[in-house]
Amino acid sequence: MLEIVILAAGKGTRMRSEKPKVMHPLGGKPLVKHVVERARELQAHKIHLVVGHGAEHVEAAMVADDITFSDQAQQLGTGHAVMQTLEKLQADSTVLILYGDVPLIKTATLEKLIGLVDSHKMALLTVDLQNPFGYGRILRDARGAVIAIVEQKDATPEQQLIKEGNSGVMAMTTAQLRNWLPQLSNQNAQGEYYLTDVIGLAVQQGIGVQAVKAASEMEVLGINNRQQQAQLERALQQQQAAILLDAGVTLLDPARFDLRGTLTAGQDCVIDVNCIFEGAVTLGSSVEIGPNCVIKNAQLGDGVHIYANSHIEDAIIENNCSVGPYARLRPGTHLKAHAKVGNFVETKKAVVGIGSKINHLSYIGDAILGDDVNVGAGTITCNYDGVNKHLTQIGDNCFVGANSTLVAPVKLGANATVAAGSTITAPVNPDELVVARTRQRHIQGWRRPTKK
Ligand code: UD1
Ligand code: CA
Repeated sequence: MLEIVILAAGKGTRMRSEKPKVMHPLGGKPLVKHVVERARELQAHKIHLVVGHGAEHVEAAMVADDITFSDQAQQLGTGHAVMQTLEKLQADSTVLILYGDVPLIKTATLEKLIGLVDSHKMALLTVDLQNPFGYGRILRDARGAVIAIVEQKDATPEQQLIKEGNSGVMAMTTAQLRNWLPQLSNQNAQGEYYLTDVIGLAVQQGIGVQAVKAASEMEVLGINNRQQQAQLERALQQQQAAILLDAGVTLLDPARFDLRGTLTAGQDCVIDVNCIFEGAVTLGSSVEIGPNCVIKNAQLGDGVHIYANSHIEDAIIENNCSVGPYARLRPGTHLKAHAKVGNFVETKKAVVGIGSKINHLSYIGDAILGDDVNVGAGTITCNYDGVNKHLTQIGDNCFVGANSTLVAPVKLGANATVAAGSTITAPVNPDELVVARTRQRHIQGWRRPTKK
């Protein structure tokens, strides 16, 4: 059985933040959530989060059936942190230790590590580093076997030349941990109980330390400040962009693409620069998205075209619709096939029927529009009476003239025509023309006032 311990008690002083470090986002999601997702991919039986600074916030955000929380009130070192979970671990488990601030670790690497553990062996993830300063260094004997880890602050000048660093990630059995952790001492440069000292103890007891080298530095990089957060954000975005490119999506510039959630796309979709996708977004085939769009929790059908600078949230857009430029589709918008929403149009809780058009400068909220409706420029649904929201219903094939005001609740029957500039306060029957504006008057020979 696999259990995973995630260390997340540190304050993250260098983030200079009120928030606990592991709650800072990467790709729109708290750092620790990335790590928990890896743990779930490994089908961990239980995930043990060691929390300390801002424990309430972390617990509130992460509470789940497969997660237990262990409080580490004082941060006395990584070994002390793992010790807080000892009682909760099952006697026969393999235990993998991860870090809440190391979000880009790969599942495949971890699987390799776990596979190496048995009652005679433990596993350690190391990494070759350009600049190993700050990392624990891996000490190996003449035959290349790992014999110990020495921390930066405890290392001799020769040891500091070693480029192989400790990622911190390791795996062993519960029995091994229960044996070693109580033996740790804090007699070192930092006065901490170092988890890394278990390596020396393993070697003393003839337990083989199996080292796996991470394929890239990025995978084991932790976040300690906002510079590193920004660096890993770019790395994550590049990885996500690469997956989409490989899946057949065109990103006009993968360096100007941000996904903060999940994006699935059919064939031949094209995404222009500076678009942000949040939550769960799905695109059909041949969808085109112009530059600077923000799209959150939306479903776009085949052949949908979103023009530049549109903002879409909690919306369903069926096949071959066209939206924008400069459109805002708010939650509850549902555009049926071939509908068109043009510039400076805001919709909310609005169903727009097949082939219907709202092309310019309108607010359509709490409304149900039939098929082939034409909504003229500047039409407003007055859905709010100051207390309650009311529904506007517009039947198939209606024509609403420009600058009309539809005071809800109100219903226009099929094929009705509303004259431009009308204020509609009562139901309109099918096939009627309704004119609700003051009649034009003509006063002949009118003299404008003159200055006295
Ligand atoms: C640790 C390793 C070092 C390794 C490096 C990789 C030890 C002694 N050293 O050093 O060999 O190269 O990580 O980044 O393990 N934490 C707690 N409670 C504590 C102390 C730490 O939860 O009491 C958490 C921190 O929040 C952090 C992580 O453990 O997420 C690592 O702690 P940190 O103090 O940053 O360890 P390093 O000095 O970087
Ligand atoms: Ca660190």
